[in-house]
Amino acid sequence: MQEIFNRVSTRRFTDQKVPRDRITKLLQAAMQAPSAHNQQPWEFLVIADKDTLKKFTGIHPYASSLLSGASVGIFVLCDKTRLILPEMAAQDLSAATENILLEATHLGLGSVWLGVNGHAERAAAAQKLFNLPENIEVFAALAVGYPAEHKKAQARYEEKRVHYEQY
Ligand SMILES: Cc1cc2nc3c(=O)[nH]c(=O)nc-3n(C[C@H](O)[C@H](O)[C@H](O)COP(=O)(O)O)c2cc1C
Repeated sequence: MQEIFNRVSTRRFTDQKVPRDRITKLLQAAMQAPSAHNQQPWEFLVIADKDTLKKFTGIHPYASSLLSGASVGIFVLCDKTRLILPEMAAQDLSAATENILLEATHLGLGSVWLGVNGHAERAAAAQKLFNLPENIEVFAALAVGYPAEHKKAQARYEEKRVHYEQY
């Protein structure tokens, strides 16, 4: 549970590579997420190649963390052929994405969520860049690596935003 309270977005990384078994752990956490009708619409594309990551930053204006030494970019994909409840896909994929951030914190890794969903032009450009089939859509990107900055999480709980029984 402490990972929820310790997680912060990391945008600067050391040169240390994240081993494959750690990446597998992150993806096990992702696929453990709940999903509507248990539809599990996710797939993942893991990219370490700097040239490809650089090309992605050309289509995403706020993805420079991928160039700040991130060991890998993890791209959360939606397989549209798996959708039983398409209107729930974003919630399913958000849960999977958050699980990666929390597992990364648990493993001492830094990470940041880079939004793609909701920006049709980013998703279309990424689809082309990664040569994805038509049924596969990019939902989000994550920069992951060993942190070169150590930020402390801010407590965000605000009693006044909580309503019991009646608003
Ligand atoms: C849907 C979503 C999209 C985000 N997109 C970006 C992004 O494009 N670039 C970036 O640097 N951070 C991005 N972030 C990270 C937020 O800026 C960050 O979570 C927020 O500032 C709170 O800081 P914290 O994660 O350290 O608690 C995104 C976060 C979410 C949930």
